[in-house]
Amino acid sequence: MTELSFIHRYEPATDPTRPPLLLLHGTGGDENDLLGLGRMISPGSTLLSPRGKILENGMPRFFRRLAEGVFDEEDVRFRANELADFVAEARKAYGLEAPIAVGFSNGANIAAAMLMLRPEILAGAALLRAMVPLTQAPAVDLAGKRVLMISGALDPIIPADNSQRLAASLSASGADVQHEILPAGHNLSQTDLQLLVRWFGE
Ligand code: MLT
Repeated sequence: MTELSFIHRYEPATDPTRPPLLLLHGTGGDENDLLGLGRMISPGSTLLSPRGKILENGMPRFFRRLAEGVFDEEDVRFRANELADFVAEARKAYGLEAPIAVGFSNGANIAAAMLMLRPEILAGAALLRAMVPLTQAPAVDLAGKRVLMISGALDPIIPADNSQRLAASLSASGADVQHEILPAGHNLSQTDLQLLVRWFGE
C-alpha cells in the first residue's frame, strides 16, 4: 500500500473500461467493508477505499456528529476537503481518472458533501441511505455528473423528506439524479445491489 494521507485499500483495475470507485464505509466500518460490494457492482473497476479518520466510541466515521442525524457542519466541511485532497493525491499516485463515489450511510453523506464542496473530485456518486450533509447547500455546478440515490422508506435514521431534499438539491445543481426509494430500512437489500449493477451498466 502506498503511503498516502488516509489508511486505505487499493485494488488496481482489471477492466480499464470501468470507472474507478471510491468506496466510503458507514459508521463503524473500515476500508475493507465495501470491497466486495465494489467488485460485485462494477467488476474490474479500480477500487480505492479509505478509512474515516474520526472515531466515535471506537467506530470509524468520516466526520463528527453531535447526535444521530445531527452533524457538526464545520467538521463536515473540513473533512470533505481533507478527503477530497486524499482522492487528488491517490489519483496522482495511482494514475486514476476521477472516481465514482459509492458511499453507505455516513460514507454517502461525506460523498454528498464532497459533491457540493469539491465537485471536480468525483465523476459521479452512488449514495446509499444518504441525508442532507449541509443545511446551506453551496452553489455548485454538477452538470454532467450522474448520481444514484437509494433510500429506504422504512429507514429509522433518515426521514423521507430529508433524502428527498438532498435529491432535489443535487438535481437543482445540475446533476443527473436517479432517486430510488425502496421498501427497506437503513440496511442494504438485494434490490440495492440490483439497482447498483443496472446503474453501473448504463
Ligand atoms: C451519519 O452520522 O452520517 C448518519 O447519521 C448516518 C450514520 O452514520 O449512522
